[in-house]
Amino acid sequence: MRKHIVAGNWKMNNTFDEADELISNILDALEEKNLDRNTSMIICPPFPFLEMATDYAKDSYFEVGAQDVSTEEKGAYTGEVSAAMLKSMEVSYCIVGHSERRQYHHECNLMVAKKVDRLLENGIRPIVCCGERLEEREANKQFDVVKQQIEEGLFHLTAEQFKELVIAYEPVWAIGTGKTATPEQAQEIHAFIRNLIAEKYGKAVADEISILYGGSCKPSNAKEIFSNPDVDGGLIGGACLKAEDFMAIAFSF
Ligand code: 13P
Repeated sequence: MRKHIVAGNWKMNNTFDEADELISNILDALEEKNLDRNTSMIICPPFPFLEMATDYAKDSYFEVGAQDVSTEEKGAYTGEVSAAMLKSMEVSYCIVGHSERRQYHHECNLMVAKKVDRLLENGIRPIVCCGERLEEREANKQFDVVKQQIEEGLFHLTAEQFKELVIAYEPVWAIGTGKTATPEQAQEIHAFIRNLIAEKYGKAVADEISILYGGSCKPSNAKEIFSNPDVDGGLIGGACLKAEDFMAIAFSF
């Protein structure tokens, strides 16, 4: 059975004390009620709080992801954080190609490919985001856009490497807007992505990959979205900043 995953992308939110409180609250909730063993919980705080998060994670069930990584291995790249640094802090996952990185930092599919390579070289599992913008959805181009993002960003990998990935479909028009893809829209594109993977790497690989939905996912809609056969969980933004909401989503399978 494919793994269910609920990952919380904190984005650029929380101070040190707020981060400490949020993680403590998640920990308390996990102690009170165990997550289903087939569900993984990942929290992705900003870089300065990764060490705190990995420390907490040692005694708990959740795993820790970063929100970005450099395309380069090491050296004179001021402000950048390498995959080797993340690995040395026991980070297990890293988000790559988030639409906010694509939009505000001009991250292209080629950069996504390089970041994925750096992460895999260091044994960190990439959570690779794809998804169309509103004008692309309105022009019915969502399939072409997602196909290109996946082919250019990921199809240089071997099947063994590909199995390490988590894919997150995040329609840009649903991120932080309160608009959610309908369960049918999510299922349609998740099935399309799985089929693309099956055509390139075979059905066995495609069947193993967890494909997450992201975009205004919250306790009130998670169950319906997650009930689709090709939706294996969520990449959660706003709703992961409250432990109660994040936990409610994690219990929505
Ligand atoms: P929201 O849940 O705030 O819409 O954000 C989704 C997202 O971008 C997660 O990476």
